[in-house]
Amino acid sequence: MSRSIDIQLRVNGEAVKATVPSRLNLVDFLRGDLSLTGSHVGCEHGVCGACTIIVDGNTVRGCLMLAAQANGTEITTIEGLADSGQSAALQAAFTNRNALQCGFCTPGMLASALGYIDAGGAADRDAIRKHISGNYCRCTGYQSIVDAICDVIEESRT
Ligand code: FES
Ligand code: FES
Repeated sequence: MSRSIDIQLRVNGEAVKATVPSRLNLVDFLRGDLSLTGSHVGCEHGVCGACTIIVDGNTVRGCLMLAAQANGTEITTIEGLADSGQSAALQAAFTNRNALQCGFCTPGMLASALGYIDAGGAADRDAIRKHISGNYCRCTGYQSIVDAICDVIEESRT
C-alpha cells in the first residue's frame, strides 16, 4: 500500500501544500493536482523530454522525480515561463521559424532550450543539438528548432 506524504513547495511563484501518494510522479502531480497541463507526458521513463520542467534552476524530467522529492523546491513549468515572459523571445522565434507542428514536444523543448541559453550557451548548432538531444520531436526534423534557438542567442548578444 502506498503511503501519503505532506509536501510544501513553490510552483510558478506560488506556495503549494499537498498530501501526495509516495509513488506519485512529479509531472502527474503538476498535471493532475495543480492542473498545469503544459508539461506533457510521453514515454514516462526519462527518454522523450516532453515532461521537462525547471526545479531549483535545473532542467529536470518530471516523470523521473516523485512529487514527494519536490518537497521544499522551487518549480517552474512552461506556464510559469510563459506568464513571466521568460520564454517570450523563444516562443516568438519558434513561431517565426515554424519550429513546431503538433506542439507535443514544445513545452519541454522550450524549457531545455532556456536552460541552454541561460547557461550562456553559444549559437553553435552542434552544441545545441547535443543539448536538446534528450528532447524528442517527431514532427520538425529539429532543423527549425535549432534555427530558433540560434536566433534568440544571436539577437540577445548583438
Ligand atoms: Fe518524461 Fe518522456 S515523459 S521523459
Ligand atoms: Fe510534434 Fe515536436 S512538434 S513532436
